[in-house]
Amino acid sequence: MITYNEQIRTFKLDTPRTSYVMGIRDGGFLLNLYYGRRLPDDDLWALSNRLPSASFSPSDPDYTDFSTDVAPMEYPTNGRGDFRVSALSVRGADGSSVTDLRYVSHRMFRGKPDLPGLPHLYADDDSECETLEVTMRDPLTGVEAVLVYTAFEDCDVIAKHVRLTNRGGRTVKLERALSSCVDLPSMDFDLITLWGRHAKERQFERRPIARGLQGIRSKRGSSSHNHNPFAALAQTGATETTGEVYGFNLVYSGNFTLTAEVDHNASTRIVMGIDPSDFGWLLAPGETFVTPEAVHVFSADGLGGMSRVFHRCYGEHLIRGRWKTEKRPLLINSWEAAYFDFDTDKLISFAERARELGIEMLVMDDGWFGKRDNDRSSLGDWFVNEKKLDLSRLIDYVHSMGLKFGIWYEPEMISPDSDLYRAHPDWCVHVAGRTPSIARHQYVLDVSRPDVRENVYGQMREVLCRYPIDYVKWDFNRNLSEAGSALLPAERSGEFFHRFVLGTYELQDRLIRDFPALLLENCSGGGGRFDPGMLYYSPQIWASDNTDPIERLNIQFGTSLCYPASSMGAHVSPCRRTGYRTKGDVALWGTFGYELDPNDLSEEEREIIKEQVAEYHGYYELIRRGDLYRLICPWDNDFVSAWSFVSEDKREALVTLVRMRRQEETLLHLKLQGLDPDAFYTVEGTGERYSGALLMYAGVEMTGAAWDDGDSCKLHLIAE
Ligand code: DGJ
Repeated sequence: MITYNEQIRTFKLDTPRTSYVMGIRDGGFLLNLYYGRRLPDDDLWALSNRLPSASFSPSDPDYTDFSTDVAPMEYPTNGRGDFRVSALSVRGADGSSVTDLRYVSHRMFRGKPDLPGLPHLYADDDSECETLEVTMRDPLTGVEAVLVYTAFEDCDVIAKHVRLTNRGGRTVKLERALSSCVDLPSMDFDLITLWGRHAKERQFERRPIARGLQGIRSKRGSSSHNHNPFAALAQTGATETTGEVYGFNLVYSGNFTLTAEVDHNASTRIVMGIDPSDFGWLLAPGETFVTPEAVHVFSADGLGGMSRVFHRCYGEHLIRGRWKTEKRPLLINSWEAAYFDFDTDKLISFAERARELGIEMLVMDDGWFGKRDNDRSSLGDWFVNEKKLDLSRLIDYVHSMGLKFGIWYEPEMISPDSDLYRAHPDWCVHVAGRTPSIARHQYVLDVSRPDVRENVYGQMREVLCRYPIDYVKWDFNRNLSEAGSALLPAERSGEFFHRFVLGTYELQDRLIRDFPALLLENCSGGGGRFDPGMLYYSPQIWASDNTDPIERLNIQFGTSLCYPASSMGAHVSPCRRTGYRTKGDVALWGTFGYELDPNDLSEEEREIIKEQVAEYHGYYELIRRGDLYRLICPWDNDFVSAWSFVSEDKREALVTLVRMRRQEETLLHLKLQGLDPDAFYTVEGTGERYSGALLMYAGVEMTGAAWDDGDSCKLHLIAE
């Protein structure tokens, strides 16, 4: 619900348990007055009296009792006396980057507007949320900023983006155009972020914030393995289950910044949006630029509470289409089983064995097109390698067995050894006069160009129309360097990175519109583009090329900070670190599937896999619709990790514990969370009965059943 109190000129955006309050100050300054637990409406006036005092600070001569230097600014601009990190900086035709925004008007309406060309949260029904648009204007340049906020009524989420329009008479350049800023009157926070690299994505990092700047960004052209566009500010001492936590996530797949700055008054500003360092956007009179959307979550129930809000929100308001609700097929992927070394018969043998195990879809990974027998050629030549494959025979056979069929693409890339490159060498991302760098023997295809998109999409469309393909894995295996496009004039070169991302979004949008039954899975050398932008197009994303179940724990726990289980691509592979049971128990947390040669399995392994397939079906709804509780996180404990899924009605729970390393002396009483304390639960298999209260407050002993390095065990609880 959103209200505006005319008397005190204050907006209040309420979600079920949170409030976000803004005030219009004399002079038209828009202030960020409060974000946190839900407040009543009656005494909001008190919030605007809390400005710190300022000396040495510039003020508007008409409003000298106020300085942007110390005020909590809602959308801070550059050069007007606020010296902290700003959200907007516009270089006017006069060459100055001083930018000033003052309130003009506002409107409120039910529902949520779309962001043209950009991924965003959505509401199926206008009753699910309400939107506030606050229009601000820079009197000199005429730049208008419409700050667009949506407050959801079924989850504690506020989405925000900004529409910037040039209402002046001369072209200006946006040098910073961020999506959001939150100013909090405290520095008692830890900053939590997810760092990583290839095969080690989304590792948890927590550090106390300090005065000055701190934060994360990507300049790699994609959100990247290295930092996820997510950050949390956790009240000092907040834990998984207690304390106040703010979560921030940018719905974007390109260069981003998430920066926190603590000033001399110990107030903390956090801004997020497109990274300004390689950005510049010309805005001619009448033109509009729309920022990506930022998602804000507040929880008073610790990190776990924050994560569950993100999970519900993304399950309901981000993931779309048929596969949002329809059961997704359990797949086997050819990559770790065969790499580039396959032909029709080998894949048929995978499908036959997989079917015996109950697997529902065969995915043919990299290596089916052009002349691709290794990673040195053919990206861009998206036609079937008929020397290697009879694709019609393969798909017909796979379908005749009742399995679905999927295929791999890497549409935004081009190999120097490809027909496409030989025909169009200027179609790769490059800067004239500089040799483009190579990574994994490939260049990046310039999908900022409409003609390039038309070509690559045309090639994909031809294959997908010709063959009945049920699933596409969309990969992206390098970072961008020498970023430039032959079509962009010099003064627009700063637009390249964002135009590239918009090009990718357009391609994925066309794909899922033209083939609505297709299941799309994004991937980027594992989980290098695991972000909410990608989730808008594909309901699942391959989480990492690292399928070692112990290493996966850190990756999956980290990913779960804001992404739901249903989105997290997780497979059982031939990795020998643990047995199949642990591999299956860990992969069960995610989308679940296999990445191995099913011809190589022992009889015992086949039996275990059949049991896992049954478990996958049995727990499908619980894992996808239930609430996740991180019971013991690998960043808190070197020996054991544990998590559970609890159904929304608390009648069912699945608890999993993994022994990472043996620890001789202790039995551990694992305290469960999220159960009904008054209910009695029966343990499947043993028939033991425990109260929810006992399970949560005294705990349950599970380590005995997972004693050695790499062991795991599960507890399935059903309420009577
Ligand atoms: C990287 C992906 O993460 C892998 O799963 C696989 O698809 C390879 N690329 C293929 O080149």
